[in-house]
Amino acid sequence: MSRQLKSVLFVCLGNICRSPTAHAVFRQKAKGTNLNVEIDSAGTAGYHVGATPDKRSVKHGVKRGYDFSDLYARAVSDEDFEHYDYILAMDNQNYADLVERCPKPLRHKIKRFLDFSIKYPEQIEVPDPYYGGASGFEYVLDLIEDASDGLIDELYKL
Ligand code: 4NP
Repeated sequence: MSRQLKSVLFVCLGNICRSPTAHAVFRQKAKGTNLNVEIDSAGTAGYHVGATPDKRSVKHGVKRGYDFSDLYARAVSDEDFEHYDYILAMDNQNYADLVERCPKPLRHKIKRFLDFSIKYPEQIEVPDPYYGGASGFEYVLDLIEDASDGLIDELYKL
């Protein structure tokens, strides 16, 4: 039997590297469960609205079997704070920007995605890979795969 619907929004700065990776990874992992989740991703900034994910994120993610083909960048909207149960920031700046913008009664929805990390308890942020090399994109995938497993565990507890 399918479980109660939960909704998750992954948020980074540009919505072209980290949050679309989280979107692609988490939806694939959730597909293998009986969880009923609505998933989306967005950026705190609007520079890349309408863009497909960064080619490097896609290259590394596709190698691990994830699908990015239907993802396009969008900016966080005011409605997102009402709509989503979990609003998960990739780094501390994304977190601070979301908290500042979110109406106070809804702020409990905002968390850091790595709060759900299992194998990387010391890691607080998913580092921005945009200006770095291939290893940064691989590390983003390692962190996101692990936190996705932790988030699935959390959703099963509800
Ligand atoms: P993201 O990475 O926040 O993981 O999508 C970035 C994408 C674009 C830029 C910075 C970070 N930028 O400065 O354009």
